Amino acid sequence: MCEQRAVSSHRLWRVAAGLACALLLVACHRVPQVAQPPSRGSRLYTAHCLSCHQAQGQGVSGIQPPLAGTPVPNGDPEVLLAWVMFGVRPTVLPAGHYAGVMPQFNYLSDADLAAILSYVRSSFGNQSSVITVEQVASVRSRQAAR
Ligand code: HEC
Repeated sequence: MCEQRAVSSHRLWRVAAGLACALLLVACHRVPQVAQPPSRGSRLYTAHCLSCHQAQGQGVSGIQPPLAGTPVPNGDPEVLLAWVMFGVRPTVLPAGHYAGVMPQFNYLSDADLAAILSYVRSSFGNQSSVITVEQVASVRSRQAAR
């Protein structure tokens, strides 16, 4: 009799422990996701581009163009890189539309430029392909050969 009781209470404990585990698992899944730390591209954008092109890539009317939904940031990676690194003016960005002057960023590393431009191309509603380190290196070496 006594032995049987011991066994059944042991079983009860196991069931209770199982239930507690299941509850814990469910609870853990329900814990709201902690905000992701900003990506490298986002941090570099904040450091080098945000002051002019603004947090949402909206630019400043008449002074700095928006990067949201505009053709150069979302267009041919080589044209974009040549502009951002060396100031080679894209045909779709005629001079004289914006009062501001953009610095050239060829002093940044290939990896930093790839991270910033990939961030720009996938943020502010943009949905363009990433820019690879190889693409940056290739534009850099071609420009150096000129
Ligand atoms: C000091 C202000 C300033 C900073 C900093 C700056 N830009 Fe610009 N950017 C401009 C201005 C002004 C233009 C327009 C230039 C013109 O038409 O001559 C421009 C144009 C552009 C364009 C072309 C936009 C279009 O609509 O065709 C891209 C792309 C761009 N910037 C990306 C960047 C990125 C990426 C960074 C950071 C690495 C950056 N800019 C930092 C001022 C700035």
